[in-house]
Amino acid sequence: MKYKVLTLAVLATIIYSCASKSTVPTVETPKEEIKFAVTLTAELAEGKSLYENNCANCHSLYKANDFNAEQWKPIVLDMQKKAGLNDAQGQKIYNYLTSQ
Ligand code: HEC
Repeated sequence: MKYKVLTLAVLATIIYSCASKSTVPTVETPKEEIKFAVTLTAELAEGKSLYENNCANCHSLYKANDFNAEQWKPIVLDMQKKAGLNDAQGQKIYNYLTSQ
């Protein structure tokens, strides 16, 4: 009798853990957002805020993946002048944009 209860408990644990695993794909989006927030370092966060605060004055913000790293380089160099930013600030924006 004792074994029966134990077996049931083990089975229940296995079924429960399998069931909870199968629900993971349904919460894909929030999981990605959390990962993004965690991997955003202080430097990248600074680049993000520089970008959002300085690069939407003349046009709406472009998405980071609208251009690749090679394309962003001359664009940021050109636009950092337009935005009145220095090289270090432009570099942070570039690092942020190409990290996405
Ligand atoms: C003083 C106004 C102004 C500011 C500030 C500004 N831009 Fe621009 N941006 C423009 C104009 C005007 C164009 C279109 C003509 C051109 O390419 O010069 C443009 C175009 C762009 C384009 C499109 C380039 C292409 O080849 O299609 C991107 C991307 C861009 N800007 C990014 C940025 C970023 C990043 C910043 C912040 C560092 C920024 N802009 C700040 C005026 C501005």
